[in-house]
Amino acid sequence: MFDSGFPEEMFQGDNRFSWYSMMRSSSPVFHVGNRKLWMFFKYNDVNKIFMDHENFSSVPPRRFADNEGGISNSFILMDHPEHAIYRSLVADPFLPSHIKEMEPTIEKIVFSLLEKIGDQGTFDFVSKFAIPLPVTVIADLLGIPESDREKFRYWSDVIIGNKDPTGAYSLFQDDMKKYFTTIIEKKRRDPDDSIIKLLTESEIGGNKISNDEIISFCQLLMVGGNETTTNLLGNMFSIFSQKPDLISYLESSSSSIESAIEESLRYYSPIQMIPHRWARNDISFQGNEIRKGDGIILWIGSANRDEAKYDDPETFRVDRMPKDHLAFGMGIHMCLGAPLARLEAKIALQYLIPYFKNYRIEESGKSIIKNPLVYGYEKMILKRD
Ligand code: HEM
Repeated sequence: MFDSGFPEEMFQGDNRFSWYSMMRSSSPVFHVGNRKLWMFFKYNDVNKIFMDHENFSSVPPRRFADNEGGISNSFILMDHPEHAIYRSLVADPFLPSHIKEMEPTIEKIVFSLLEKIGDQGTFDFVSKFAIPLPVTVIADLLGIPESDREKFRYWSDVIIGNKDPTGAYSLFQDDMKKYFTTIIEKKRRDPDDSIIKLLTESEIGGNKISNDEIISFCQLLMVGGNETTTNLLGNMFSIFSQKPDLISYLESSSSSIESAIEESLRYYSPIQMIPHRWARNDISFQGNEIRKGDGIILWIGSANRDEAKYDDPETFRVDRMPKDHLAFGMGIHMCLGAPLARLEAKIALQYLIPYFKNYRIEESGKSIIKNPLVYGYEKMILKRD
């Protein structure tokens, strides 16, 4: 966890939105104490830094400890041109045209999760729906056999820290590496159309990529695509449940669903901040002297509520269609899985409309994740009226 020098309560739950507003008006470019750390709160500044790869790097000044595992070696923490080479290996399956082909699979997964929930009067939306949906979709894309899905779901939980409060990576590293190595070896022999198979056939500079590199890809996709989408689904439930006006808007057309998703992403951005940028050069930024190597924190959650960018930003307007929000980042690192997340959310929303109408969130059964990096729920108990 990063140390900003501010009391943590300030940027937890909905408190964070008044803190962002205060920072945008008083210190939009904030130098954290005498530390080598800067925070940015305004839309234009956050967007500019996302786009400026010459001056802002995604490569940490020193590599993370070994037990941080494969993510630290993955392309989210690389700069151009290395980043482009690695990202291009998995770009194809995430193109909107390919993702569209997943529609029937995602529908099947949504349907089977709702069937399992059945007519229960009370259930936890997060553990029964919002977590398993994206995990199952990614397992499918990677080509994890059905029989291993439970284990895969467990690994995903461990990676994102849900099952190991002492540090996500220490617990699973060896077992998971063994598991993935077996799967990769099997894919090298057997034909299929999974992402792991695609990676086993990929080359960089004429050399096949190693098992460790493939594991890094898998872990990045598991981390990138799971908790983020889970949080989007939970946030949408919190917005739409028992709000007849919003629900009838959703029912009006499929473009209304798309607009509702974009506004949900803007309003409650699942990733609230990006802590992994560093100044590549000494930079003078609006009169501030940023030094080479200084850490940069981009507050997406604040940029997406900047009054200089959006009218009445603290109000959820279901028909706003804020296409240029920063919830998926911007520039070369812009979210690879955005078309997939949007499709999962769209299918889920269509199927969830009756639940928005008939179930209410139990106030005592709701708990928000206490982490400044994300906005989402770890538990959301629903009760039928
Ligand atoms: C609502 C859901 C999601 C949100 C809010 C989200 C958000 C983001 C953001 C803000 C970034 C930019 C990181 C940066 O600039 O350093 C990013 C990158 C990334 N996301 Fe997502 N994401 C979501 C879903 C997914 C899904 C479903 C996948 C894949 C299955 C995915 C895979 C990735 C990958 C691989 C990157 C790294 C891209 C790169 O460095 O070139 N994300 N995501």
